[in-house]
Amino acid sequence: MAIKLNDKFLAGFVGDHELGAIEDSVKSAHDKLHGKTGLGNDFLGWVDLPVDYDKEEFTRIKAAAEKIKSSCDILIVIGIGGSYLGARAAIEFCKSPYYNNLKKDTPDIYFAGCNISAQATAELLSICEGKDVCLNVISKSGTTTEPAIAFRIFRDMLIKKYGPDCIKDRVFITTDRAKGTLKAFADEMGCETFVVPDDCGGRYSVLTAVGLLPIAVAGIDIDDMMKGAADAREAYAGCDLATNDCLKYAALRNILYRQGKSVEIFVTYESSLAMTAEWWKQLFGESEGKDNKGLLPDSVSFTTDLHSLGQFIQQGSRTMFETVIDLENSSDKMEIPFDPANSDGLNFVAGKDMHYVCRKAFEATAIAHTDGATPNIVLSLTKRGAFEFGYLVYFFELACAVSGYMLGVNPFNQPGVEEYKGNMFALLGKPGEANDKRRAELEAYKF
Ligand code: PA5
Repeated sequence: MAIKLNDKFLAGFVGDHELGAIEDSVKSAHDKLHGKTGLGNDFLGWVDLPVDYDKEEFTRIKAAAEKIKSSCDILIVIGIGGSYLGARAAIEFCKSPYYNNLKKDTPDIYFAGCNISAQATAELLSICEGKDVCLNVISKSGTTTEPAIAFRIFRDMLIKKYGPDCIKDRVFITTDRAKGTLKAFADEMGCETFVVPDDCGGRYSVLTAVGLLPIAVAGIDIDDMMKGAADAREAYAGCDLATNDCLKYAALRNILYRQGKSVEIFVTYESSLAMTAEWWKQLFGESEGKDNKGLLPDSVSFTTDLHSLGQFIQQGSRTMFETVIDLENSSDKMEIPFDPANSDGLNFVAGKDMHYVCRKAFEATAIAHTDGATPNIVLSLTKRGAFEFGYLVYFFELACAVSGYMLGVNPFNQPGVEEYKGNMFALLGKPGEANDKRRAELEAYKF
């Protein structure tokens, strides 16, 4: 198994009787999910996706990735939320946060349309100067404002650079199978399209074309990634908490939440996992945070943040627990040199590998934080790789869905996301009676 749950840092926080008491709730959530009887049950495509995906499209994804690799220096992936976080997390996890700066035979990959920043967009346009560029535009709805604005700007750039005929060769569109403005645009221009399946919400879509096309362009083995997810699906199909670490994780976080621990902090010790933490936050935050309920998902990058939020975690308000990813094996060896002068007094670690020191930092921190009443759930991950990423994705998607059902919410909708959009459209003067009415209300606000 690529992930193992270690509960030794929960001693004194969660008793066996509490796990026993919650077993029925876990079983009921598990049955709802697999029996497709729970809330949002038309969004369960991700459950069997690792073994039941569109093989013809999978082959087209690989072919498109080769075409992109051979025709550009830069791929710009345009999308937001679930339409970009998974791919970015996978590239940093499997390759590196420095992916663009590494020596490689694959294009640089930048992400746009995940904000409305004039500065970020202008900088990316200038990075593209003198380079060959392709776009992968990803939006299930096809109407999300941030990627729609970015697409206009980068489409304009392509047309100025290559002429209008370039669109069909340089723009790859991932959207709804049949409907929406992006699909209509792709059909009109003759762009190659890929599908966001109807039954997969954005944050559960990284193992569809949404994530797989950019991931394949980065030279990552997507067969291996699907195999990892398929292995996790098989490993966590049962419902016994004693043998199913995924369901046990869902149960433990639920028990801690009921004890008043309302913040879950995702802890990583590798910068290559920082975007995985962002993906995890979106998955759990959008899935659970509704109906005035839910754990607040937060994240820290240790040991960096031990010199920042570490103080709060050790001694601040006692409202949190940590879920720590312990990477067992590093892909690189980095021996600490011996210094005969020992002027920094560090010879006690000379000859040791940095990863050994990092894991000692993890042990030391877990003990300190649990001593300070912050419980730690430890998830040991064998190593970083495509297989492990697929495995991890499935582990957290399943745990999230089961947790959501245990909480009594619909883990597959995100009604709250619409609130800001209504206000923004009204303030921007989008035509329509409802927008006019809302604009009048907003203008009457006294701040
Ligand atoms: O998880 C989700 O469903 C959301 O985060 C969406 O992915 C995000 O809002 C982008 O939506 P769309 O793909 O329709 O542009």
